[in-house]
Amino acid sequence: MPEDSGGYESHHYDVVVIGAGGAGLRAAIAAHDAGARTALVCKSLLGKAHTVMAEGGIAAALGNLWPEDNWQVHFRDTMRGGKLLNNWRMAELHAKEAPQRVYELEQWGALFDRTPDGKISQRDFGGHRYARLAHVGDRTGLEMIRTLQQRAVALGIDVFMELTITDLLKDGARVAGAFGYWRESGRFVVFEAPAVVLATGGIGKSWRVTSNSWEYTGDGHALALRAGATLINMEFVQFHPTGMVWPPAVKGLLVTESVRGDGGVLLNSQGKRFMFDYIPEFFKAETADTVEEADAWYTDKRNNRRPPELLPRDEVARAINSEVKSGRGSPHGGVYLDIASRRSPEFIKRRLPSMYHQFMELAGVDITKEPMEIAPTCHYVMGGVEVDPDTQMSVVPGLFAAGEVAGGMHGANRLGGNSLSDLLVFGKRAGDHAASYVQALGHQRPQVDAQALSAASEVALAPFAGGHGSENPYGVHQDLQVVMQDLVGIIRTEHELKEALDKLSGLRARSGALAVEGNRQYNPGWHLALDLRNMLLVSESVARAALERQESRGGHTRDDYPMSDPYWGTQNVVVKLDGHDLRVERQPLPKPPPELAQLLEEGH
Ligand code: FUM
Repeated sequence: MPEDSGGYESHHYDVVVIGAGGAGLRAAIAAHDAGARTALVCKSLLGKAHTVMAEGGIAAALGNLWPEDNWQVHFRDTMRGGKLLNNWRMAELHAKEAPQRVYELEQWGALFDRTPDGKISQRDFGGHRYARLAHVGDRTGLEMIRTLQQRAVALGIDVFMELTITDLLKDGARVAGAFGYWRESGRFVVFEAPAVVLATGGIGKSWRVTSNSWEYTGDGHALALRAGATLINMEFVQFHPTGMVWPPAVKGLLVTESVRGDGGVLLNSQGKRFMFDYIPEFFKAETADTVEEADAWYTDKRNNRRPPELLPRDEVARAINSEVKSGRGSPHGGVYLDIASRRSPEFIKRRLPSMYHQFMELAGVDITKEPMEIAPTCHYVMGGVEVDPDTQMSVVPGLFAAGEVAGGMHGANRLGGNSLSDLLVFGKRAGDHAASYVQALGHQRPQVDAQALSAASEVALAPFAGGHGSENPYGVHQDLQVVMQDLVGIIRTEHELKEALDKLSGLRARSGALAVEGNRQYNPGWHLALDLRNMLLVSESVARAALERQESRGGHTRDDYPMSDPYWGTQNVVVKLDGHDLRVERQPLPKPPPELAQLLEEGH
C-alpha cells in the first residue's frame, strides 16, 4: 500500500524506470532479475510505445541469410551510417550483444518469421550490408513489446500506468527519486529511489509532421537537463523518408522502410525513379545505360549491392525533399512509393500486412494495386543524455538512460532496425548497472528533501496559478510545431536557426502566462502545459546545437555549410543547463582503438 506522507502518495524502490517502451521494459526486467525492488512508470498505457513504430525488424548479425555477416560488419555499417560520429564503444557493444538479445526475446516467446529452413528470417534495410533485420511481418516492434510486457507482468514488476514524472529529486549531486502525478486524478506521487533509469523515448511532438504520438515530448531529455546531466549531439534529428501525407489526420504516420527493403521504389510525379540521381559517386554503376540495367546492377546481392532506395535514411529523405521542392512532387506534397508494380499481391499481404491495412483503412488506397503517397516525417532523435557506454549512467550519480533518450550510439544518423536492438542491449545494461549501483550504496541511500517536494509541486501547479495570463497551451504547442518544422527541419541555415531561437524565446515567455482552466482531475490542458515545459527546453537544445555545428552530416543538413567538415567529425556538441539558460560546448569525440579503427577502413 502506498504511504501518504506530507500529502503525497509515496513509494520506495531501489530502481525506478521511467518509460515502458522496449528500453524501459528491458531495463526493468534486468533490474528485477538482479534483485532490485523495481518500479516501471509510464505516462501512457503499458504497451503503447513508439517501439511499435519500429515495424521492419531488429538489426542483429545472426548470419541466417548471409553467413558472412558478423558483429564486425554490423559495427562498421552502424558507424558508417552514423557518419563516424557514434560513440564507438556503444556501437561495439551493440553489434556484439544484439544477437544474444534477439535469441533471448525468442526464448521469451517472440514469434519471428522464419526462413525455409526454420531459422529466424532477416530482411534488407538501408545502410546494412547484409539482410540483417529479424522481423515479424511489419509488426516487429509490436511483437517485441508484447513479449517484454508479458515477461515483466509475469515477473510481478510493479507498473504505474498513466503517471507522468515532472521532476527528478536529488540529494546533493545524487539522484534520490522522482516526482509526478496520476493523469487521471492529478494526485501527486513521490518515488524515493537511489537509481532512476530514463527510458522515455524521443522528442518528435515538437514538430508538426511526425511519426511520434502524444507521449513523445522529450520528457527524459528535459528531466536529465534539469537534474544536471548533459545532452550530446541534439542537432541530429532523423526524418524517416516515408510517412503518410494523406489524409491530413494521419499525416506523418510511419510507412515502414520494409516496403523499400522488400522491393518498393520511389517515383516522382513524372514517374521517374529519381533515387538514381542521388547515388553517391562511390556507389555508382559504371556500365548501366538504362534504368533496367542499373536496377539489376544495384540489386546484385551477391556483390553486396543495394537499390538506391536503401541508401541511409538521411540521404533518401533529402532526395525526396529536393524532388518536392523542385516541383516534381505528388498532389499532397510527397512522392510515390510503389511496390504494387514490383511484387505480387500475395507477397505484399504476407510481408507487409500492417501497411496493407493502414493504407486501405486510412487512405482508401490498395497498395497491391496503387502506389502510396509519402514524404519525410520526424521520427527519431539521435542526440540524447550523455552516458557511460558500458553502464549507461549519466554524469549524475544514480541517473541512467537507455534507448532513444540516450545519446551517442547512433552518431549523426541511425540505421533502421538499430533502434530495437539498441533498446534491448542498452535497456538490459542500464537495468543491470542501476541494480548494482544501488547494491554498492549499501545503507548510504540518498534522502528526499521536503523542500524539493514542495518546489516540485509548486512548478507542477503553476499553470493553474496563471490567472494573470491568457495563453492557451494548445496554441503555444501549435506555434512551437510550426517553428520547429519550418526553421529546424531537414534543411537548416544560420539565419533560420537564429530566427527559431528568437521565436522559441517568445514561446517560452508565452508559456509563463499559460492559463489552465478546471481542476487537477483528468485535465488534458494541464498535462500539455507541463509537457510544454519539456518541449520548449528540448527544442531550444536542438536549435542551439544545430547552430553550433557548422557543417552537414547525417541528420543535420546546413544549406550554408553543405559539406561534412573533418574538424566537426572529431567533435560532440554538448548542451547543459546553467541556471535557467542552456549552454553549448564542444567536446572531443572518443577515438576507437586501432583494431576497431582498422575495421572502419576495410570493405566497401
Ligand atoms: O521503417 C521502420 O520500420 C522503422 C524502423 C526503425 O525506425 O528502426
